[in-house]
Amino acid sequence: MKTITNMKNSFRIAFLIVATVMMVSCADSSRPNYQYMPNMYEPVGYETYGEYDIFPGGLEAMLPAEGSIPRGWQPYDYPNTTDGLNLAKAELSNPIPVTEASLANGKKLYDIYCAVCHGEKGDGQGILVQREKILGIPSYADPGRLINSGGVYHVQMYGLNSMGSYASQTNELERWQITQHVMNLKATLEGTPLLAPQSEVAPELEIMETAHDSTAAEH
Ligand code: HEC
Repeated sequence: MKTITNMKNSFRIAFLIVATVMMVSCADSSRPNYQYMPNMYEPVGYETYGEYDIFPGGLEAMLPAEGSIPRGWQPYDYPNTTDGLNLAKAELSNPIPVTEASLANGKKLYDIYCAVCHGEKGDGQGILVQREKILGIPSYADPGRLINSGGVYHVQMYGLNSMGSYASQTNELERWQITQHVMNLKATLEGTPLLAPQSEVAPELEIMETAHDSTAAEH
């Protein structure tokens, strides 16, 4: 009787050993193992870049409809050509009111983005010019150039020859604030009157500022 129980036990032990060896030997560390409760890993919703037949083109991530405009982005109709620049100089004017705050922010942004080339005074003597890293930076008082608000905004949108575009670094409001500062630098260089800040902020500026704030919060 005793020997039979012993034999049964040794069978059980042998079986357990064999089973363990089989299970362990089948594990492949280079592949994902068994998933318990796969719902935890495989979401029920569509993956952003997943492939699904129900979407046109088979991809979940689709291109926006033609003509879509990103939030907080304003269409800019002047083309990136010499004619476009001249047209902007002739027609486009600064839509935002001059305030202490807009001038201060314009100066701050100008010193960040533009002063390396154009110089803090706008005389074309930025640090890169002094170190001879770049050539051909005009002074804003260059008598051979028509420098006005429309043109300053336009070159920020598209750049001009070796000057790059600032359309992705700054938003519409900021570009107009920089433009105010540039016009003040030009006036200082030429000894003409500066832009006079208004004491009250016009409602349009507030609308523009709130619109930009809300887009900033989404990023
Ligand atoms: C990498 C150097 C560089 C930086 C930075 C730069 N610019 Fe320029 N900018 C140039 C050069 C070069 C020109 C002359 C382009 C030409 O006429 O071929 C120029 C020309 C201009 C002009 C004259 C356009 C005209 O109608 O003749 C304005 C205005 C101007 N820049 C404004 C800005 C503002 C505002 C910023 C900052 C947002 C800026 N630039 C940043 C290099 C730069």
